[in-house]
Amino acid sequence: MKKVITYGTFDLFHYGHRRLLERAKELGDYLIVGITADDFDKSRGKINVRQSLMERVAAVKETGLADEIVIEEYEGQKIDDIKRYQVDIFTVGSDWKGKFDYLNEYCKVVYLDRTEGVSSTEIRSESPLKIGLVGSAGFLDKVVRECAYVNDLEIEGVYTDEGISSALQSLPLVTRNYRGLLDKVDAVYIFSYPGLHYEEIRTALACGKHVLCESLFAMTRAECEELIHLAEEKGLVLMSAVKTAYSIAYWRLILLVKSGIIGNVISVDSTCTSLDEIENGRTDYKNSWNSITKWGSTALLPVFQILGTDYKECRITSKLLDNRYDTFTKIDFVYQNAVASIKVGRGVKSEGELIISGTKGYIYVPAPWWKTDYFEVRYENPADNRRYFYQLEGEGIRYEFLSFSKAVKKGTVMSNINDVFNKAVCDIVEQFNRQENFNRI
Ligand code: CTP
Repeated sequence: MKKVITYGTFDLFHYGHRRLLERAKELGDYLIVGITADDFDKSRGKINVRQSLMERVAAVKETGLADEIVIEEYEGQKIDDIKRYQVDIFTVGSDWKGKFDYLNEYCKVVYLDRTEGVSSTEIRSESPLKIGLVGSAGFLDKVVRECAYVNDLEIEGVYTDEGISSALQSLPLVTRNYRGLLDKVDAVYIFSYPGLHYEEIRTALACGKHVLCESLFAMTRAECEELIHLAEEKGLVLMSAVKTAYSIAYWRLILLVKSGIIGNVISVDSTCTSLDEIENGRTDYKNSWNSITKWGSTALLPVFQILGTDYKECRITSKLLDNRYDTFTKIDFVYQNAVASIKVGRGVKSEGELIISGTKGYIYVPAPWWKTDYFEVRYENPADNRRYFYQLEGEGIRYEFLSFSKAVKKGTVMSNINDVFNKAVCDIVEQFNRQENFNRI
């Protein structure tokens, strides 16, 4: 029996895929189809895949052409598969010509002509999500670069009152008129100043536009709730952006903690600091990010995602430059069965680590933990310690935008951050601004 194997992503299964499988089948008696797993695809830069692995497997199965389906999960797997299944012929489309010649050592390699005029990429880009940027932060340059990896998304322009980089200047539309930008887009990404977010989100939602906003949405819980309600009422996606939530290492860490790998969690301690210049000498929160607004959401992410938001006590201690600008803030939480602390600073430097302590062991994430691709689970007996590595592409930004674009296309929120978190962050900032349960040093 002649065995044939072929590999692909098979996203949004199309005519070109069917023709490839038909011809592959004709090359032998038994066809094995390898379908690329989501994570493996991400590591090759194909992060724009629209369908889940299960959906793609189902589509290939439905053709009735595959005698067997395997999942391709790691680089180098093709050699393993060819040996394991005693494959006679490896085949793929001619767009890969030459790339798999190294497999000739193990079986015959056949490149089949690619069907002209159809591809998953083209189907995905038929209706790109048009995004407008709001703000002037240097971070927006990174966003433009990272969005190039998300291929059903297009950056249309930027709205700002301030000077911007040349990368942003070269966008099709650069305007000081917010509504002018809103007219041209399906959605906005907002990263202006925390005190402006509420108005900017409200205006965008009122105009029927989806919103991805750098955390936080508003300076009070009431305003935050109003925005969430407005988005629901209008059937729009309102998602908050904390890029760490989309880093694979961070997300796997959360899942491991929830699965009980370190027992019951007793303490979460996170630190995020940077020694920054005060933006243009401004300490007004309408026009600048202080320590708590810049770092608070990120530092609070593991606390609220692991211990929840139902804390019994929350005490804030800040070093204030004037009444609102904290160069450093420490927050201590007391829960029913646990404690937590965060330290954030723009004028104080510390080790940016995350430690999650449990009844069986602890997790250590080295600095800067919010950008990590590595963490360790440590036990009393060091021989039991385990290390975890996950590739971090683009600091999580591209996955965040991909998730936003999918949420808009599917009409459901597919975020790693929920509204309970969004509201709880606003609670903390509100408490800070009111200086309740507050110490000043
Ligand atoms: N293929 C083909 N003709 C097409 C599209 C794909 O023969 N018009 C073949 C590819 O060469 C590959 C297999 O189908 O052997 C699976 O391809 P895949 O990369 O999943 O599909 P594409 O449409 O090429 O996806 P993309 O646009 O994301 O690259």
